[in-house]
Amino acid sequence: MTDKYDLTFPADFIFGVATSSYQIEGAVAEDGRTPSHWDTFSHTPGKVLGQETGDIACDHYHRYRQDVDLIADLGVSSYRFSLAWPRIVTEDNRLNTRGIDFYHRLLDALAERNVTPAATIYHWDLPQWLADRGGWANRDTVRYFTDYAQMVFQAFGDRIPQWITHNEPWCASFLSYGLGEHAPGHRDWREAVLASHHILLSHGETVKLYRAMGLKGQIGITLNLNVTDPKTDTDADRAAARRGDGFSNRWFLDPLFRGAYPEDMLDIFRPYVQNFRFIRPGDLETISTPMNFLGVNYYTRSVVFDEPGTSLLQLGHVVPAKDRVTEMGWEVHPDSLYRLLKRLAGEYTALPLYITENGAAYPDAVDADGQVHDPLRTAYVQSHLQAAQRFVEEGGALKGYYLWSLMDNFEWAYGYSKRFGIVYVDFASQERILKDSAKWYKELIARHRLRH
Ligand code: NOJ
Repeated sequence: MTDKYDLTFPADFIFGVATSSYQIEGAVAEDGRTPSHWDTFSHTPGKVLGQETGDIACDHYHRYRQDVDLIADLGVSSYRFSLAWPRIVTEDNRLNTRGIDFYHRLLDALAERNVTPAATIYHWDLPQWLADRGGWANRDTVRYFTDYAQMVFQAFGDRIPQWITHNEPWCASFLSYGLGEHAPGHRDWREAVLASHHILLSHGETVKLYRAMGLKGQIGITLNLNVTDPKTDTDADRAAARRGDGFSNRWFLDPLFRGAYPEDMLDIFRPYVQNFRFIRPGDLETISTPMNFLGVNYYTRSVVFDEPGTSLLQLGHVVPAKDRVTEMGWEVHPDSLYRLLKRLAGEYTALPLYITENGAAYPDAVDADGQVHDPLRTAYVQSHLQAAQRFVEEGGALKGYYLWSLMDNFEWAYGYSKRFGIVYVDFASQERILKDSAKWYKELIARHRLRH
């Protein structure tokens, strides 16, 4: 067992922490914010565990200074957060300056403490007025998104050096419009495929806009990527794993990096969408507009087996992991992070990669000593950083690692029941307590600095 601080990355490697607007901000009706489809969804009985909502969340909207102090205290060089579309744009598609002002205050606080911001433009809080018009299944949303992107580039283009257009398009489309687990909770694969295309298209349009506005920072996208392993070495299981890979990974990677959707997945989706006329001439060129980096959210792998006739879209079934699982039931498998990075570099892109999320939920509690002891989370992060280090040592272009999450927050359909933070949040009092993993991360970063 190596020393638990023994990790070596290049001097300019970025250690960060990540959050998103709806998961932490609260203040859902303040300063002109309009409802998002997550407000609607979380207020619909039966959608979120325990009927919890993001109404208050971590109350970050009011406590952002204290939270930025925590971020600075960790010693991280970068903070990844998201901008809330419903704060920034009014229902008649105009700029809401009070929403913009909040993020200026946040950016001021970060600047004072030398923390570099990395902003996600869309982390799932679609304005309800757009959801009412069909949301991402409606192509018009692409134009509304670029209007919004233009507003945030105008406001913050010179203050934010790193931009992520979308967070996890797979979740924002398939999980939301197909599987129905996230807002808007639809179960319609035609809508889901349309949504995925429109999200990717809005990404490409936004990259073009960023260039056209002459902005000089970095812009990319964050995908949730996964490794799908066959349960057995049979042809049937291998084919199921390949389909699972198409669904989770290639459907997004291929258009971004190769300018084409994978043929096998078009065949799988065809019966649900009838035809692909919504993919218009020029769309794939737009989607594959060169960007500056790829963001990777990695949590686990899946083991897949074939079972003809019964599975979703005939994709195959996932074997539930039993050993070494986090509280989400996700297998802890750091080697698959290494394999994933290798594959991206080998098959898709020479662009810089960032791990824009990695972390784990465990059932944390405040101990009698007033501390939160979470050795499993520390072990999780350490083992994944080791996998990342191996990739970097072999010459891989990995530039940074953002731990999900800075603090416990609203874990979507799971409400507050899953704690991903390295900072514990007592949701009744809003007290924040650094978990042991936060202290470890802080020490790791401090020692890393000393070595360079
Ligand atoms: C992915 C998402 O981007 C984030 O919002 C979520 O909380 C984490 N993964 C954990 O599930």
